[in-house]
Amino acid sequence: MVDGILAGIRVLDLTQASVHPALTQMLSDHGAEIIDIRDDPNGTTMPGTKSVVLDLDAPDGLAAFHRLSATSHVVLAETDHTYERLSADNPALVYVVIAGGTAVSGGDLAFGVMAALRHAEATGQGQIVILDATDDEVSPIFSAMPTPPRKPAPRIGEHTDSYLAEMPLAPMLDTDRRALRDAFGCFATGVTVVTTRQEDGVPRGFTANSFTSVSLDPPMLLVCVAKTAHSCPVFTDAPHFAVNVLSQDQKDLSGIFASRETDKFEQVPWRSGVARMPVFDGALAHLVCACERIMDAGDHVILLGRVIGHETGPGQPLGYFRGTYFSAGNEQDLIDAASHGGDIEIGALIEGEGALLLANASGGGLEVPKAPGIIPDIDVLTTLLQQAGLTVDLDFLYAVFRDSATGRYGIFYHGTASGTPPQGHQFYPMDDLPLSRVRNAAERSMLTRYVAEHQQGSFGIYQGDETRGTVHRIASHEPSTY
Ligand SMILES: Cc1cc2nc3c(=O)[nH]c(=O)nc-3n(C[C@H](O)[C@H](O)[C@H](O)COP(=O)(O)O)c2cc1C
Repeated sequence: MVDGILAGIRVLDLTQASVHPALTQMLSDHGAEIIDIRDDPNGTTMPGTKSVVLDLDAPDGLAAFHRLSATSHVVLAETDHTYERLSADNPALVYVVIAGGTAVSGGDLAFGVMAALRHAEATGQGQIVILDATDDEVSPIFSAMPTPPRKPAPRIGEHTDSYLAEMPLAPMLDTDRRALRDAFGCFATGVTVVTTRQEDGVPRGFTANSFTSVSLDPPMLLVCVAKTAHSCPVFTDAPHFAVNVLSQDQKDLSGIFASRETDKFEQVPWRSGVARMPVFDGALAHLVCACERIMDAGDHVILLGRVIGHETGPGQPLGYFRGTYFSAGNEQDLIDAASHGGDIEIGALIEGEGALLLANASGGGLEVPKAPGIIPDIDVLTTLLQQAGLTVDLDFLYAVFRDSATGRYGIFYHGTASGTPPQGHQFYPMDDLPLSRVRNAAERSMLTRYVAEHQQGSFGIYQGDETRGTVHRIASHEPSTY
């Protein structure tokens, strides 16, 4: 239990018979230790004080006083004869000179002592405080800091807005939080996995899109870690971390490291890079950092790293936008297809209420609806469907492939529709699609994949030919909440 608000503060009072008994009394009443030092053993003492007799003119007495002041916080004196020596041993010492005796007001004196003590506690720097009743201006003069010029009076209410804006905000509502997350999510980013090692060497990592390059010289980057992430304390303690910039083929890796599973590193191949930081082959870049600074930032901490090693590899980036992944690597196939002259088919997988729109083909067959003409245009297809009573909303590019049987390129979009299918077209339930009636092998293979993806709730862009190719996951039905 602390004994008074000033417990722990030691005051040496050199003023003869205490210049301001009310002040020393008050300091003592609130727990300060007041040591009344005088050379005359006669006279009275104040209640609650300690009394020490020392002859400060004698070398022994002065040495004892120096020892006492080294463990004290405040000296009250009438002249300054020894502050410089005392402060050499005790830089935080507050040495108050009361010149002019009782003419110095108790209020000024108390303010001088307390303000200098507060400054010493905040900065570790003591000072000499002079209260001189013989001066016109009696208020304390602080050696550590000149008194700033007096400021003009404000207009009433002049600062209301600025202070209210600084007030801590009321806790955020869930709806506000969601709206802000949606706004942040409009900024399309790449995806990284940030890794480090625990003190015992165990690798740790999490998926992050908050990566930002900061400075080239010196080389610096930053990443924000949620305080709720299991690995947050590991990252704030670790001397090093690595940022792995993911390629479009590493969506699964991103998914694993966005989880809270404890065996993430057992599920994927990895190796030790610079400073033994875990890195993943196939990433577009590894940037290994020495942790330069950790900054507190609301519900996240910012890891500022100095790059000590980096390497880059080939590939296209994995992107993240509005809570879903996207792939930015389809341009080349599109360019190839477009530059291939007239051998292009452009069509759309159009979905409506769990069913897919297919068009009648010759001989009782079925096909994906396609834009007419030698130079087909997807807008022409949607306009024709619209004119026939079906409103189509295209949302993403679904597949780009070369049909090796016909030599033609196929470009297929995905869309949703409402309204009546035009003549020669029909919606077929997704779980009972008559795939055997789709004669074209490339289209049949695309539709088979589409049905499977529809069941999983995750789509991908397909690049290749009708039998071999890569699927780049681009969208999921349930966007991540990050
Ligand atoms: C695309 C994406 C980006 C993310 N970016 C961050 C990020 O920048 N900072 C963060 O703390 N969490 C981010 N997360 C969430 C973490 O990956 C997730 O909370 C993870 O479970 C943390 O792992 P841990 O709990 O094992 O530390 C992101 C998730 C995804 C899917």
